Amino acid sequence: MHVLTVLDHPNPKSFSAAAAGAFMRGATDAGHTTELADLNTESFSPLWSMADIGDDTPPDVAREQDRIARADAICLVFPLFWWGMPSMTKGWVDRTFRWGWAHDQLDNPEQSLLRPRTGVLLVPAGARSDEIQTEGYLDALETAWTKGTFGFFGFSPRKLELLYGSTGSDARRAALLEQAFQCGLTLPSPDNPRA
Ligand SMILES: Cc1cc2nc3c(=O)[nH]c(=O)nc-3n(C[C@H](O)[C@H](O)[C@H](O)COP(=O)(O)O)c2cc1C
Repeated sequence: MHVLTVLDHPNPKSFSAAAAGAFMRGATDAGHTTELADLNTESFSPLWSMADIGDDTPPDVAREQDRIARADAICLVFPLFWWGMPSMTKGWVDRTFRWGWAHDQLDNPEQSLLRPRTGVLLVPAGARSDEIQTEGYLDALETAWTKGTFGFFGFSPRKLELLYGSTGSDARRAALLEQAFQCGLTLPSPDNPRA
């Protein structure tokens, strides 16, 4: 498969960047080709503006759509910010998966105009797993992202892989990087309900 990793972090030495690297090494070891979209280094503009309204696709968005078109699997790597996406990732999602290109209706999150692609949200989070689960944050994220958003983009199968406790000890972070590596190594093929 061809695997696109979309990284959102301005610091190349960040844990998120290390997680993206570990995921890509796992995907490479599994025999996949890989491609990195490093949104901050590339200065992608996340601002949804008048240029995004209308029939014409802005050139910077068309470039991201070309990346998606050649990918069989997509992994978004971004740190969890206030139980949501940082603005760069949010803007990349908002601008790239355009109405009429990715989706044309809002009734059924299992339907997309795009072919099925394996989708992974690989998300470092400072909080502990028990806190995220007992407070209901995990259910909220699964509902908003896994159920309510990424089906419209053709992500199938799709999963949210949280890297809990990402600001913890070196040993903790090493275990999380192994989790990211395994995620790349065991990436499933896209579902193909249209075959
Ligand atoms: C603005 C901001 C908001 C954050 N919000 C959350 C949050 O809601 N839940 C959480 O578990 N961690 C939160 N964190 C912690 C980050 O997820 C954590 O610092 C990050 O995963 C560490 O990875 P990094 O070194 O790549 O930045 C937040 C951090 C920042 C800077």
